[in-house]
Amino acid sequence: MRGDSSVDAPSVPVRLSQRAEWTRKQAIGFLMQQAVENPQVISLAAGLVDRDTLPVEEARGAVAEILRDEEQGRDVLQYGTTQGAERLRGALVDHLANLEGKSPQEMGLDPNRMILTNGSQQLLSLICQVLLDPGDICLVAAPTYFVFLGTLAGVGAQAIPIETDEDGMRMDALEAELKRMESAGELDRVKLIYLVSDFENPSGISLSAERRAAAVDIARRFSKEHRIFVLEDAAYRELRYDGPEMPSIWSHDEAGDTVILAQTFSKSFSPGLRVGYGVIPAELLEPICDRKGNEDFGSAHFNQQILATVFEQGRYAAHVEKVCASYRVKRDSMLAAADRYFGDIPGVRWVRPHGGLYVWMALPEHIETGFDSALFQQAAKTEEVMYVPGELCYAGSEEQRLKNRMRLSFGVQTPAGIDEGMKRLARAVRSVL
Ligand SMILES: Cc1ncc(COP(=O)(O)O)c(C=O)c1O
Repeated sequence: MRGDSSVDAPSVPVRLSQRAEWTRKQAIGFLMQQAVENPQVISLAAGLVDRDTLPVEEARGAVAEILRDEEQGRDVLQYGTTQGAERLRGALVDHLANLEGKSPQEMGLDPNRMILTNGSQQLLSLICQVLLDPGDICLVAAPTYFVFLGTLAGVGAQAIPIETDEDGMRMDALEAELKRMESAGELDRVKLIYLVSDFENPSGISLSAERRAAAVDIARRFSKEHRIFVLEDAAYRELRYDGPEMPSIWSHDEAGDTVILAQTFSKSFSPGLRVGYGVIPAELLEPICDRKGNEDFGSAHFNQQILATVFEQGRYAAHVEKVCASYRVKRDSMLAAADRYFGDIPGVRWVRPHGGLYVWMALPEHIETGFDSALFQQAAKTEEVMYVPGELCYAGSEEQRLKNRMRLSFGVQTPAGIDEGMKRLARAVRSVL
């Protein structure tokens, strides 16, 4: 009976929170849904990592090791701490020193300044939550990581796009924007500068060495009433296939009070483990841990112990080498296919990335690539190939979003799949020219 009456009764509306409203309609959801509903489509859109190089052997060895002993097994199956396993944070001090080309002594990083999170995405989100009130500002590259744009929108913050060129975000443009904001009395709303330093998602571009130092300098100079932090997202740092290895932006922050460094094991090892980590300026550590306490009071302890063991067993570096060798071949396949199928289409250009997972392609000005465009429909429905529309990766007004760009991922497909996908995509582009 109760069931019947509730069918007839007018349904009482759900009133979502303001935050939930701000978080609606994330493009990532639509893309994932398309991929699931159309498994026959060749996806050059998915940012997933290569299935064939996932570290089954390494993970199996580490799990066997941590469960070998009853007592130790119980320890790793217990809750951990909010900040994350000390054993892994200790290993990460050495790992980061290695990436910076320094000895751990030279670097002198205190593991207590590190936090382990559920992927680096959780760290990005926590930072937004503790720093940004609705209306606050984060300066971002144009283009930038579109999921982070959603994270900013989700806390009601404003993302302001800064022009980029082949060396990443232009520091003269960043400085000019900050000066403009200062004159307009808006500087007090600026809290963050977000930079994906290596092989940016989506552009594949890395920030040049000079600009890394300049970013820290600019953040400090404009930190007047309050600190402006640089959030360095180095998610793709270890996926380097050629070109120079560069010290991070964080390495230029000698006082350790301006740069938040966010990294992850998702790309270099396994996204299924969902282990990300950050080095946090002292004053932010407690607020971030407090916030994380509200969410989960600690990410999966077991997974952190798996990674610590992989490091201890000396298997991490060899795995990263294997992953990079595989992606290098895939990147080369995509670039060769771009030359082969797009080379003679006038007005088509693309970035040749030295690492990461993406090739960023520009089409002639009048060819739009969005979900509703003729090209997207032709590609997805007729040619059965999918890409990420570039306009999703821009903050700002309609006019500031370039409509003729595509993000093409070489992570998931085999070299043959990449070739076929690029062939189909070129056909789709020719059909709408
Ligand atoms: C630039 C960038 N940052 C952060 C992330 C988040 O990755 P995860 O949460 O798996 O560490 C991604 C994932 O694709 C990314 O592309």
